[in-house]
Amino acid sequence: MFETKLLGTDENSINTAAELIRAGEVVGIPTETVYGLGANAFDEDAVRKIFAAKGRPADNPLIVHISSFDEIESLVTEIPALAEKCAEKFWAGPLTMIMPKSDRIPLVTSGGLDTVGIRMPSNATARAIIKASGCPIAAPSANLSGSPSPTTAQHVFKDMNGRIPAIVDGGACGVGVESTVISFESDAIRLLRPGFISVEDLKEVTENVLVDKGVLEMLGEGAKVRSPGMKYKHYAPKAEVTIIDGSSEQFNAFCRKNAGAEDVLMVFTEEDARELSQRKTILGSTDEEQAQHLFDALRGFDDMGAKKVWARCPRKTGVGLAVYNRLLRAAAFRVIHL
Ligand code: TXA
Ligand code: MG
Repeated sequence: MFETKLLGTDENSINTAAELIRAGEVVGIPTETVYGLGANAFDEDAVRKIFAAKGRPADNPLIVHISSFDEIESLVTEIPALAEKCAEKFWAGPLTMIMPKSDRIPLVTSGGLDTVGIRMPSNATARAIIKASGCPIAAPSANLSGSPSPTTAQHVFKDMNGRIPAIVDGGACGVGVESTVISFESDAIRLLRPGFISVEDLKEVTENVLVDKGVLEMLGEGAKVRSPGMKYKHYAPKAEVTIIDGSSEQFNAFCRKNAGAEDVLMVFTEEDARELSQRKTILGSTDEEQAQHLFDALRGFDDMGAKKVWARCPRKTGVGLAVYNRLLRAAAFRVIHL
């Protein structure tokens, strides 16, 4: 048991966080996407502590975070030409690229795979911590396995109090959903997890962008799981969430008929639930606002004691695809098409 300390983002705090990481401990760190649980990616014992703190299955690999491009050399055996182009365009930023791993990355970090996901965050505090630690930092999202990703230090504290020595409080995350995860196949990019870097953005690098089946569908028995994270139930609040795919008018009409007085409506704007008297959670009208607020909203349902949530359906393009992908999992793939 630790007495979990909240640290700031000043130089002293960053040095304290880096010392803990060098000493083989796990620290909660802010990034532009969501908070991470960071430890030295080279240190097997430290990485095991991450899995223990989260209650994460050992076969679900961790993303390795770097602070400058040259750090990648010792971590992978090959940098595909497309990866180099993507790095040029989207790093530092919310993009994780899967590449063949070098022997320096322990199998504990890669979940037993011979590949590793690498990301260079744009968050200045995250980069300062990596630099001060002097090692690449393995970091999954800082939630307990199965609960929504944390977008504030308070979310991390709620899940990790007593489990880790410190959390660096860098304020609310700007993006709000986890990084885009991609892999490479001959001359194509395969999207494994949508994020702030959208399909449309990736198409500026190559037209050849394949959206993996697991992004929009529940993978059945025997399906090829290209990213272990797809197998697990994710982001789920205790409430039963159902996505209502239709216009604002259709949403109103549907809820008037079907929503109970105690249910909660997750909408984009007040206008979406204008004729409805239930409790409302408002995400915002743009994809970006919805991404920023989604995980806080999902966490809020538990605090509200919500049993049933009816949610408007995000757009399936741009950053909306990332919001839809996370919400689908929170809703255990329950969607009603109107
Ligand atoms: O934005 C983010 O990516 C955050 C921040 C902290 O950087 N991290 C994050 O990590 O979301 P995590 O562990 O919660 O999600 C990583 C996802 C998992 O679904 C995992 O299965 C997949 O990426 N992944 C990691 N390495 C992989 C690999 N070598 N091959 C396939 N999938 C991989
Ligand atoms: Mg996660």
